[in-house]
Amino acid sequence: MSDLSSATKSLTDRIILITGAGDGIGRAVALASAREGATVILLGRTQEKLEKVYDLIVAENLPEPIIHPMDLATATNEEYELLGRSIDEQFGRLDGLLHNASVLGLLGPVQYFAPESLMKIMQVNVNAAFLMTRALLPALLKSDSGRVLFTSSSVGRAGRAYWGAYSVSKFATEGLMQVLADELANTSAIRVNSINPGATRTEMRAAAYPAENPNTLPTPESLTPVYIYLLGKGSQHLHGQALDIRKMLTELPPTI
Ligand SMILES: NC(=O)c1ccc[n+]([C@@H]2O[C@H](COP(=O)([O-])OP(=O)(O)OC[C@H]3O[C@@H](n4cnc5c(N)ncnc54)[C@H](OP(=O)(O)O)[C@@H]3O)[C@@H](O)[C@H]2O)c1
Repeated sequence: MSDLSSATKSLTDRIILITGAGDGIGRAVALASAREGATVILLGRTQEKLEKVYDLIVAENLPEPIIHPMDLATATNEEYELLGRSIDEQFGRLDGLLHNASVLGLLGPVQYFAPESLMKIMQVNVNAAFLMTRALLPALLKSDSGRVLFTSSSVGRAGRAYWGAYSVSKFATEGLMQVLADELANTSAIRVNSINPGATRTEMRAAAYPAENPNTLPTPESLTPVYIYLLGKGSQHLHGQALDIRKMLTELPPTI
């Protein structure tokens, strides 16, 4: 990855949509992307959280973001298609799509897993990402360097007892990434990958590991150079890969 350094310096003029942009990793990547020059479409469930991120970006005189409140548990295909048309009309293209929003749900054995929890987790973590990708592909195809980045987990690469629907949803996410990457491999400039952020100091991690001291974990902000790189033009050689953030961070130059 010899061009990592220069590529991470700028997302200037790029239009990037981030789901779950109001909190955790998505919030940190949204702020970092704006600082690298991107116009960020902040998509998330809680409007107040998105407004706070908007205010922080505007206060730094960065490119004005767009707020797009959307509940991925209930959003319809019509809403995804409307979003796609709006982006196309306003910007004429989409350069990056980070599928970051997810729900953990309750952990527990398959035998006792609540069916309604299974349905909701699959809806938010898998179906929403599929339908949104489908609806935004026309705009992504208009970019000279479109990027679609899915968010995985270590339990999306090796099954683990009691991680239930969350784990299954992350396996499905990897499957969606591979199918889409294979479809687009020789037909477009879009690059499709998945990233496992690993243990990170967020609400989701605290819910999964309530006894853990969060101060022992990396912050979302410490991960952002990898996301910036993967959403930028310099990562064109990465396609169809299940990436690991720890490995990628060790390849970043110390100045970043
Ligand atoms: N943190 C970790 O240790 C870790 C490890 C491996 C993988 N990951 C993955 O990394 C990604 C980010 O996780 P995180 O730790 O930053 O989680 P987080 O702090 O819980 O943030 C999740 C974000 O997703 C949004 N979201 C949840 N349900 C939604 C819905 N129905 N519609 C729209 N937005 C919704 C949340 O919005 P609200 O705040 O409004 O609810 C929030 O902004 C996830 O895909 C997660 O699976 C995290």
